[in-house]
Amino acid sequence: VLQILDARIPLSSLNPEIERITAGKPHLYVLNKSDLADPEITRQWLAYFKSAGAGCIAMDSKQRGRATATKGLIEKELSALMERRRSRGMVGAAIRVMIVGIPNVGKSTFINSFAGTTRAKAANKPGVTRGKQWISVDSFDLMDMPGVLWPKFDDQSVGMNLAYTGAVKDDILDVETLGCHLMAYLGAHYPDALTAGYKLPQLPQREPEENDIAYGYRLLEAAGRKRGFLISGGEVDTERMAKILLDEFRSGKLGHFTLELPE
Ligand code: G4P
Repeated sequence: VLQILDARIPLSSLNPEIERITAGKPHLYVLNKSDLADPEITRQWLAYFKSAGAGCIAMDSKQRGRATATKGLIEKELSALMERRRSRGMVGAAIRVMIVGIPNVGKSTFINSFAGTTRAKAANKPGVTRGKQWISVDSFDLMDMPGVLWPKFDDQSVGMNLAYTGAVKDDILDVETLGCHLMAYLGAHYPDALTAGYKLPQLPQREPEENDIAYGYRLLEAAGRKRGFLISGGEVDTERMAKILLDEFRSGKLGHFTLELPE
């Protein structure tokens, strides 16, 4: 089971239901979109997964051919199994890899990069049904699963992380509230990126007892004012600023951020 995670939110993008259903199968984790994540924290996550005994690799699937690096990792992870097969004369049997991940995490991009020019659809495999698709690449059969998002997230911060990164559609959440929370996080963890990105001489200080919404709102105002997003009466159009913030966060224009640390 190859679970593709978003390197910016490795925990929030990890589907606990898939973990449960596939317990007992070899697992590999791909920290995708690592080009958008904080490289130091990605290193910590790699060490974290490895210390838990799981295969893990950081990935930028948009870079052509990068995903092929996972072939070696899969073979390493399955070396004992492959050796057993060889000893029984089962040479040439393809390794079946189920590829899972939340919507928009980069499954299609990863598979295309993994398959490169040798990409071929294997139509006559058992188990081909609507929505699932087998793709043969070298000694691998990849099963492309449509994006699976677990039905409920108990933790509100998980929902917000999924919204920041674009796994959950914006229109089901209030963009301004989302912008406030993201600003407050970036203000606390990446203040330099905010001052540089929005050309602020210095970041407004957080008041004692001020909550994320209130502090984030002040940051949105400061950034929006600097960008000249004003509405009548000289007020800042904070909703417009929140949309811009989310766009710039998602595209990596504002910097490389990771929103979750390994415990
Ligand atoms: P999915 O199958 O899991 O739903 O995801 P998909 O591959 O469609 O990728 C979703 C978006 O994420 C795409 O952007 C894709 O280019 C981008 N993406 C995938 N992997 C990476 C990565 O490693 N790094 C970065 N920076 N982006 C990645 P899009 O805006 O929907 O399309 P496009 O603008 O790239 O055409």
